[in-house]
Amino acid sequence: MFEELEEINLRPKPFEFYTTSDLWTDEYISKQMLVSHLNGENDRASRNTKFINRSVNWISSFFKIGAGTKIADFGCGPGLYTARLAKMQADVTGIDFSTRSIQYAKDTAANENLPIKYVNQNYLEYETDEHFNLILLIYHDFGVLSPSQRNLLLAKFHNFLKTDGFVLLDVPSLKAFEKRKEATVYKVNLENHFWSPNKYHGFLNTFKYEEEKVILDKYTIVEASRTQVIYIWQQYYSPEMLEKEFASCGLKINNLFSDVTGSKFNSKNEEFAVVAQKK
Ligand SMILES: C[S@@+](CC[C@H](N)C(=O)[O-])C[C@H]1O[C@@H](n2cnc3c(N)ncnc32)[C@H](O)[C@@H]1O
Repeated sequence: MFEELEEINLRPKPFEFYTTSDLWTDEYISKQMLVSHLNGENDRASRNTKFINRSVNWISSFFKIGAGTKIADFGCGPGLYTARLAKMQADVTGIDFSTRSIQYAKDTAANENLPIKYVNQNYLEYETDEHFNLILLIYHDFGVLSPSQRNLLLAKFHNFLKTDGFVLLDVPSLKAFEKRKEATVYKVNLENHFWSPNKYHGFLNTFKYEEEKVILDKYTIVEASRTQVIYIWQQYYSPEMLEKEFASCGLKINNLFSDVTGSKFNSKNEEFAVVAQKK
């Protein structure tokens, strides 16, 4: 028991473990995630419907989306952005490793007669000969990746962009980092059975890495027959930190916004969005 509690409370090195796929592809958890995506009222897995509508309208006018604009949406989930963009005649590809979300997205596209290409794959392994006018990575997915994974993904973006193509992504800011606190929570069936339909003892250890500006939410879910550990990492950013990472992969940040609806950049905001191009 002592050793198990030691393990639960153990602080790993930043980005030491990558379990993101468990979060999105596990049979039970992915079902919970899809419900969250499709709940247009909250911001849990996708943002609320009003935000997404504003965001797509801004994307459409800022990037002049129209017939033939080639867009790749990395981590497209159930296709909340891809479907809206396809309705504006864009030529859209969505990539996501959640089979459940991709199936939902494909069904929606078929019902609405939208010619969207969906790829059910880890985007860190995605390869294509196509080149895009716009690459999206929306809802703080960039900072979930380790520094080497981010480097790999930015190098892919560089390869997949047309000469004058754009990348749009959003990240949480250092203002948001300041607000996060270390904590330990223990609860039976933590988060109302989100992690398993069976009875479990749920531990949530939040670790703050001051120097690296990283937060880890480490979930340990102890059931009668198995124990799952899920690591949810998030890198927080200043614009300068992000600029440096982009520059090392041949990308230049052209514009800063407060979020992906194109609202004016505000350094007090808890997130920001960037538009980048090849240098
Ligand atoms: C926070 S959700 C955002 C979904 C969508 N961009 C939106 O805003 O509605 C993150 C999505 O990225 C997907 N994802 C995360 N890491 C991935 C990876 N390495 N490869 C493919 N998909 C990934 C998840 O399955 C999930 O659908």
